[in-house]
Amino acid sequence: MARWVRVCGVAEAPQSGHAMEVDVAGVGICLANVNGELSALDNWCPHRRGPLGQGWVEGEAVVCPWHSWTFDVRTGVAEFPAHERVAVFPVLVVGDDVLAELK
Ligand code: FES
Repeated sequence: MARWVRVCGVAEAPQSGHAMEVDVAGVGICLANVNGELSALDNWCPHRRGPLGQGWVEGEAVVCPWHSWTFDVRTGVAEFPAHERVAVFPVLVVGDDVLAELK
């Protein structure tokens, strides 16, 4: 069942062009900011479970810090290899809080 959970405060969220990792109730989330818009992805890269939130933002994608697989922050689809992807969670800003809908 899906549930909305607090990821962090707005003031703690990454600045535009950056990402960070957050543990939310045991779920690892990569919170990325592309042009001021926040996206939440599964933090664990499907290649070898690199921490995407420790990676960096390039264009509209987050880059895994271990071997540079790159994932679109809106769809979670990898640029290469094309059949790979990570989950993307809906994000809301409510007051001073950033929320994500976890499944
Ligand atoms: S663990 Fe992410 S690219 Fe290898």
